[in-house]
Amino acid sequence: MIRLLALPGSLRKASWNHGLLRAARDAAGDGITVTIHLLEGIPLFNQDLEGNPPEAVRAFKRAVADADGVLIATPEYNYAVSGVLKNALDWASRPTREQPFSGKPVGIISAGGRFGGLRAQLQLRQIGHGMGMLMMTRPELYVDQAASKFDAQGNLTDTATRDAVAAYVQALAAWTQRLA
Ligand SMILES: Cc1cc2nc3c(=O)[nH]c(=O)nc-3n(C[C@H](O)[C@H](O)[C@H](O)COP(=O)(O)O)c2cc1C
Repeated sequence: MIRLLALPGSLRKASWNHGLLRAARDAAGDGITVTIHLLEGIPLFNQDLEGNPPEAVRAFKRAVADADGVLIATPEYNYAVSGVLKNALDWASRPTREQPFSGKPVGIISAGGRFGGLRAQLQLRQIGHGMGMLMMTRPELYVDQAASKFDAQGNLTDTATRDAVAAYVQALAAWTQRLA
């Protein structure tokens, strides 16, 4: 069994990126579980607290540590990852001796406007490099023109994109297994 932890970088109720991860969970199939962990409730990072972080941060770090691999769906905010996601990753990166992303297989997907979150993904790859994530490079999944591919509740309705998400989950599970 490959256990993937899925992190939406958006807190929005009808988030496209959260919807992508629900589609990933639905598509997981035999031998793979996808568990979505919301970043809700994680306070702003304060280095004074890194040795004794709040419970929401401990729970987040435990969930990452316990997973075999991680799937991050990031929104693009002003050509970058969301502050919500970056803040959570900053907490997870400290203290450096307890850094659950280091050596962890990670996949990155995104949904957005014209470029489907491409610029945010590139920035997240830089952050992941800094944190020692073992990022999968192929396949890539950028869901562009997302407004026409999700319903008003943020559920992915586009069949071709659902197939691409299913293929991505299979590839990430294989990547995770390869690095186990
Ligand atoms: C502060 C802010 C900045 C944004 N900047 C971009 C951007 O640079 N590129 C883009 O494609 N979409 C941008 N958007 C639109 C987001 O892609 C859109 O709000 C999307 O729904 C966010 O992801 P979510 O549905 O998972 O919450 C921006 C949205 C917000 C709120």
